[in-house]
Amino acid sequence: MMIFSVGLLVLSYFTASAVSGFPPSHLTQAEFVGQDVVLSCSLVEEGGGFGSMGASSGHFSRTPATLVLKDLPVSADTSPETLTPYIPPANPDPDNIIIEAKVTSPEIPEADLLLHADCEEQEVACEISRYYPRGLEVDAGVAYFIGSVVLEGGGLSLTLVLRTLPPIGEGDESAAAPLMQSKLELPLTPSGTLLSEVAFVVFSRSQSLTTPLGGDTLLDCGFKQQEPFPTHAMWLEWRLQHRGSGSKVLEMKAVEPEEQPIVLVERNGSSVDLALAVEEGNVSLTVRKVTVPDEGTYICTVGAGFYQAQQVMQLQVIQPPQVSLSVDKLIFKDGLPRRVSCHCERYYPLDVEVEWLYLPPSKTEPISLTQNASLTSHRQFSDKTLSLTSHVTLHPAALPAGTIITCLVSHRSLDTPVTLSLTVLAPETEERSYWMIVGMLAATLLSFYFLLK
Ligand SMILES: *[C@@H]1O[C@H](CO)[C@@H](O)[C@H](O)[C@H]1NC(C)=O
Ligand SMILES: *[C@@H]1O[C@H](CO)[C@@H](O)[C@H](O)[C@H]1NC(C)=O
Ligand SMILES: *[C@@H]1O[C@H](CO)[C@@H](O)[C@H](O)[C@H]1NC(C)=O
Repeated sequence: MMIFSVGLLVLSYFTASAVSGFPPSHLTQAEFVGQDVVLSCSLVEEGGGFGSMGASSGHFSRTPATLVLKDLPVSADTSPETLTPYIPPANPDPDNIIIEAKVTSPEIPEADLLLHADCEEQEVACEISRYYPRGLEVDAGVAYFIGSVVLEGGGLSLTLVLRTLPPIGEGDESAAAPLMQSKLELPLTPSGTLLSEVAFVVFSRSQSLTTPLGGDTLLDCGFKQQEPFPTHAMWLEWRLQHRGSGSKVLEMKAVEPEEQPIVLVERNGSSVDLALAVEEGNVSLTVRKVTVPDEGTYICTVGAGFYQAQQVMQLQVIQPPQVSLSVDKLIFKDGLPRRVSCHCERYYPLDVEVEWLYLPPSKTEPISLTQNASLTSHRQFSDKTLSLTSHVTLHPAALPAGTIITCLVSHRSLDTPVTLSLTVLAPETEERSYWMIVGMLAATLLSFYFLLK
């Protein structure tokens, strides 16, 4: 019964998103306006197949292309002068590759970010290649492309499955045969563009994450599609790739045909919310109690009907060191040098930097002592965290009483170094107590002597 109602919800959600045009039904025209975003892309093809056009790199050739995302819904408070519709070149050129993509349904998430990137000339990496939906017999004259749009510096990564649309004017008997794109052999609109619509999109809003050991983390991944499709035709796989080896973290699939998908967990403590996945296309992965082996490259692959696309993101474990000094005050005895240690424990990843400084009372600027220090080798704990100690040999001649000695530890988990200090104390305090003991001993011996007499 429960499962059945989930199924109904899914269908109604997908139907709603498929029929609602622009603007999305829950938004009013006043809040959102459509905006075109023009992206410089490369058409990437396996080399050899298309003659000598384009620069070849390795086995792939790249040809400049333009991707126009049409009518992106952006907030209306964006100043109107920045809202400019895309105008194709005046003279259609069959050698140009200009793909116009209708993106009103499904909506592209975080479209504002793309618009702002466009205005502020933030780099957007864009690659397009031909795509062949698995098991789908593609109608003549229809082609599919898969596009990857990544905002440099993070914040948004999209993988779009684009399906070409018949150019406007086709079916008009009197029209001359349409212009064909020379490389792709696809019909162009009278203005020389390839019309397409977004059929499926998989996206992520964080490409790189850090987390402390034992913490929980959420790897963002979502999808949207145009056509409603049965939920049993949907599947998900999260994989972890690290130093050349891969493992499955979690899988969601329908085990029986026509049944709701189920979630199969391979990494204990990882989860995807099945209801969010089927109702909202939110397939974000939660990883609980993160350990060092959890770090690496996560790949979220979503399949829906004939389409499949993925997002890739990095997870890094960062654990700050626990820093301690072997002593907090120092008294030199008999003018002999002393060794002091600064311990850095249970940090990750490798490489802490330890610096030593000393500040004699007569000085205002601390002086480096690092040349008198030596590092032990790393020790590794079973949880893969590391420890290291820096020893410094201190000579009394250079360090009068009142000198402050500081150990500074830098690690990539720390915005500013951890600093711990110790003070050099005058030796009299110890000598005085030594003489007190000697004096007391003498007095006791003396009293014994008189008693015995
Ligand atoms: C998925 O849901 C989580 C928790 O509600 C949220 O933080 C995240 O942004 C959502 N991600 C997507 C892709 O919708
Ligand atoms: C995961 O948890 C289950 C039950 O708590 C346990 O039987 C299994 O051994 C665990 N697997 C791993 C790889 O830790
Ligand atoms: C550092 O080492 C040198 C040579 O061993 C020594 O002369 C100097 O006094 C040391 N500095 C301090 C502050 O201990």
